[in-house]
Order: sequence, then structure tokens, then C-alpha cells
Amino acid sequence: MNVTFLLNGETVQVEAEPTRTLLDWLREDRGLCGTKEGCNEGDCGACTVMVTDAGGAKALNACILFLPQLHGKAVRTVEGISAPDGALHPVQQAMIDHHGSQCGFCTPGFIASMATGHLHGRTDHDDVLAGNLCRCTGYAPIVRAAQAAQAAPAPAWTKDEIPVVEAVPYAPDTLEDLADWYAANPDATLIAGATDVGLWVTKQLRALPQVAFLNRCAPLRDITETGDTIHFGAAVTMTNVLEVIRTAHPSYAEMIRRYGSEQVRNAATVGGNIANGSPIGDNPPALIALGATLHLRHGGKTRDLPIEDFFIAYGKQDRRSGELVTGVTLPRHAPALRCYKISKRFDQDISAVCGCFNVTVADGVVTQARIAFGGMAGTPHRAYKVEAALIGQPWTSETIQEAVTYFVEDYTPMSDMRASADYRLEVAQNLLHRYFAEMRGQVTSVLEVTP
Ligand SMILES: Cc1cc2nc3c(=O)[nH]c(=O)nc-3n(C[C@H](O)[C@H](O)[C@H](O)COP(=O)(O)OP(=O)(O)OC[C@H]3O[C@@H](n4cnc5c(N)ncnc54)[C@H](O)[C@@H]3O)c2cc1C
Ligand code: FES
Ligand code: FES
Repeated sequence: MNVTFLLNGETVQVEAEPTRTLLDWLREDRGLCGTKEGCNEGDCGACTVMVTDAGGAKALNACILFLPQLHGKAVRTVEGISAPDGALHPVQQAMIDHHGSQCGFCTPGFIASMATGHLHGRTDHDDVLAGNLCRCTGYAPIVRAAQAAQAAPAPAWTKDEIPVVEAVPYAPDTLEDLADWYAANPDATLIAGATDVGLWVTKQLRALPQVAFLNRCAPLRDITETGDTIHFGAAVTMTNVLEVIRTAHPSYAEMIRRYGSEQVRNAATVGGNIANGSPIGDNPPALIALGATLHLRHGGKTRDLPIEDFFIAYGKQDRRSGELVTGVTLPRHAPALRCYKISKRFDQDISAVCGCFNVTVADGVVTQARIAFGGMAGTPHRAYKVEAALIGQPWTSETIQEAVTYFVEDYTPMSDMRASADYRLEVAQNLLHRYFAEMRGQVTSVLEVTP
């Protein structure tokens, strides 16, 4: 595949294998070994680079970024974050001044994340750096360095103009072309953010003979807001979802702030998080609790369905061979929506249990309830029995006490490395108690512990 992009300010044209990662290419073909390989699966941030596209600059993990995803973009590795004459970027100088590096292995990745955050004037350094692991320095000096650099102006050389490039067959521009191609090639692999598919290649060493990339298809990146609804095209990244739902659905947004890391959210798409059918994806429970509608397309034929109907069984979705997910539409107003992600680590961790609640109470009585969980079954799944135990009942702790006993009828969770079945069931019950307490105005977050 012919790929054209800017690398540290210079245009490069590469004839690339579809699943050649940027990291391997940088290190093996270009001798740019500043970008490091730690985990090779998106977890450590040692391979972070700055990538600029029409939406601006973002930090991405080069280990799970395929070269064709870069067509028409600009890449800056740690070698291009200092000035062409070698002058240091303010974050680099601050890392020296504040002793932000010891063995140095993680440092190029931190520098790429920090420079990208700095370019955007970000001061939420914990979020910016949550995807970068440092084993020896400790985070305090690094965060101090980020704070020290934040007032300095962003150097001109980090503001890349994106190159004008030709259309390419492997990444169709229009939905018509993409849908027709996929209907005619149903065994091909669609690649959106590659935060799953990347690992098939780097960890499972799978060959993907036929692929198409979704990132150049504008309708799939579309975000349309009306007074009552929000529509996300399937290729909208989790970063962009987060920006939009911050005001409309703050609890959902808070959960998405903990989705992977900055680098993962900058790549992962809402469509990929649904289409993969994972029982532990973070978006589906929230979207089910919201009563969202999923949009699909096979060739010229489109159809819509309630998102919960998409997930049939583990590994089985209501999606025809050659049919793509084009987007999802959700209601804008759901003031009672609350989303809880339970994972072993606060940041950069997959949920053990993810519970989303949307209960309507009128005159003290429950009139509607949509409760959905991830991590409790082979698919993201509604708690129909619990909902039925709530509807028509007074919104009281007695009702909650009774309703939680129905979780065992709704779910038979598994024990795995993230949590035992018993733990999952107990957490689900506790989350309904938490929801009830929160909706009655009690503070339920235990993140801030004060003496
Ligand atoms: C380090 C790391 C941390 C993570 N943390 C989280 C987390 O906290 N929460 C969470 O939920 N997930 C997490 N994930 C998983 C991953 O981010 C998601 O599953 C992601 O949403 C997949 O989206 P993508 O765009 O990257 O999909 P891809 O990897 O590109 O594709 C995934 C699958 O979906 C298919 N597909 C993609 N788009 C479409 C479409 N429009 N139509 C039809 N099929 C399509 C692909 O063919 C493929 O089978 C993490 C992953 C990594 C690597
Ligand atoms: S090498 Fe760990 S995220 Fe890429
Ligand atoms: S300085 Fe050694 S891992 Fe960060």
C-alpha cells in the first residue's frame, strides 16, 4: 500500500505492508530508535508519538498504529520534538531541570505525550500521562516538569501542516465505496482505531490478508447534535466522544475518562468498541442504559436496531457478513444516567464490571428503568429482572433491597483473572445501592479521601 505522510517535517512515501506498525518501521527501516518498544500492546506508552491530522495533534501508541493509518497525516517522533537545530522543547528542558528521567527508557514516550499536551495547553497532567508507565523515576518529578513547562509557548516546529494527498483504495473516502467494497469482500478485516486489531498482529502474529481502513471515510467521523439526540459516526474516537458527552452525560464521560489512556482514546473508536462484541467494552452498557440506536449498512441497504439487540451471545452479534456499523444515536437528555467502572487500576485498565443505570422516578415511584452491565455475562446485557422489580415500586431503600436479589436471575458471571463470579455479583448489587444513594444526593465517590 502506498502511504504518504510527514515524518518530523519531511514528506515520506512508503510502500507498506498493510499491518506494518509505525514502531517497527521507525526503528527497523528508518533507524529512528528514540521511540521505544515496551509492551507492544498499547499499555506502556514507551512508543508514543505525536500525530497530526485534520482534527489536530494527538498522542498515539506507534506499536499498534499501522502505516496506512498515517496516509495524509504528520508524525513527530521524539527526534523531531526538539528543534531542527537541536534546541530542546520546553518539556525536554523541564524534564532535565526537574530530574524527570532515570534509566530513560520511558522518557521519549513521556516527552511525546507531554509535548502534545503542551501544544494544547493541557494542565490535566495526570490524564495526559496516564498511558505512560515509568518504573524508576516516579511520577512526581515528571508531573513537576510538565507543570514547569506549561507556561512556555508551544514551539512553532511542533505545529505540523498536514500534507495534501491522493485518495487511496485501501481507505475509501465515501460510505458508498466502503460499504460496497465490504459487501463484496466480506472476509476482509475492517480497521478503525486498531486498538484491538493491532494486538491481533503484534501479539497473536496473525496475518490479515485483506483489510480496509475506516479513518478516511468522513461520514464515519461525523458528529451530529440535535436538541434531543447525539449521533456519533462509527469512526469517532473515544477522545471526541468524551468531549461531546462531557456536558450532556457527565457520568458517562467520567467513565470514558478512564477508558484506556489518552493514547488509546485517541485511536479507539466507538464503532470498534461496539462491533467487536466484547462483553467488557465500556460503551455498550452506557449506550444500552441510554436506549441508543445502532446503525448498520450492507452495500446500499441500511438498518437500525436498539443497541441491546445487537449483542446476541458471546462472539455473536446481529451483523451480517459484509455489513458495517455506521454509527450510533443516543438521547441527549438522561439526567438520571450514572455509569460505574470497576477495575483493578483507576487508569488504563479494562473493566471487571461496568454498570450503567438510568432510572426514572415520578412522584416517588419508579416509572422506567434501564440497567445494563458489562463483565456480567457473555455480552453486555440488561438487568431485565432487576428493572422489573423496580418499575411501579416506591423509590425506597426497601425496594432496592428487594431488587438487588434479582441480579442472580439476570446474570451468571464468570470467574477470571479480573474478578470472581461472586465478587462480580456482589459488586453489581452494591452498585445499585450506590446509585440509589447517589440519586438521593449522597456523596458516593471514594476517590478523594479526607481525614
Ligand atoms: C491498552 C488498551 C487499553 C484498553 N482499554 C479499554 C477500556 O478501558 N475500555 C474498553 O472498552 N476497551 C478498552 N480497550 C479495547 C479497545 O480500545 C476497544 O475494543 C476499541 O474500542 C476497539 O475500537 P477500535 O476502533 O480500535 O477497533 P479496531 O481494533 O480497529 O477493530 C475492532 C474490531 O471491530 C471491527 N470494526 C471496527 N469498526 C467497525 C465498523 N465500523 N463496522 C464493523 N466492524 C468494525 C474490526 O474489524 C475488528 O474486528 C483497550 C485496548 C488497549 C490496547
Ligand atoms: S510499546 Fe507499550 S504502548 Fe507501545
Ligand atoms: S526513567 Fe526508567 S522507566 Fe522511567
